[in-house]
Amino acid sequence: MKTLILYSSRDGQTRKIAQFIAEQPDLSSGSSHCDVLDLAAAEQLDLPRYDRVLIGASIRYGHFAAALPVFIKRHLVWLNSVPSGFFSVNLTARKVGKHTPQTNVYTRKFLASSAWRPDRCEVFAGALRYPHYGWLDRVMIQLIMRMTGGETDATKDVEYTDWQQVNNFAKDFASLTAKTTGNRPE
Ligand SMILES: Cc1cc2nc3c(=O)[nH]c(=O)nc-3n(C[C@H](O)[C@H](O)[C@H](O)COP(=O)(O)O)c2cc1C
Repeated sequence: MKTLILYSSRDGQTRKIAQFIAEQPDLSSGSSHCDVLDLAAAEQLDLPRYDRVLIGASIRYGHFAAALPVFIKRHLVWLNSVPSGFFSVNLTARKVGKHTPQTNVYTRKFLASSAWRPDRCEVFAGALRYPHYGWLDRVMIQLIMRMTGGETDATKDVEYTDWQQVNNFAKDFASLTAKTTGNRPE
């Protein structure tokens, strides 16, 4: 089975999660093959070559990258015809009660407005990479962290991602071999 994992990532955390998922033995061993690619480069792909697709995207200032809805609109029929999954990555998800597709505001709104019906959906807490941010982003993130009780020390590099959660999702996604009814928030 050929799996395509597409990521939309600004600072690398969504890419790192996508690569981790791709290492799941059910996706990348024996007769299974998995390609991990930047969503921005996906227009060149021959999508029907793949039997299954997973898309991961991060949040920046309240939004997914514009390339995400563009890709979904353009390839909607194919996306809804193969087993598929979606995961979002953001810092709100580091908080208990805000890390499910139903309780994470970005993910809930995205799924509610999307014509794509992924069969599996998950939300992962991302990373805080203060030393890598430019001045404005650093100040803005510090402000948001101050308001939400997060890390404000701008020398810190903090990864909130729960790798056990990612591993469980990877296994669940890998078990998808046929199209099912998509899980959407009520
Ligand atoms: C400039 C900037 C804006 C961000 N805005 C949000 C936001 O609005 N809500 C949120 O929950 N996380 C926000 N984050 C956190 C990112 O979603 C998080 O750092 C994630 O790990 C980024 O993934 P990426 O490295 O794949 O882009 C922001 C991060 C940065 C650097």
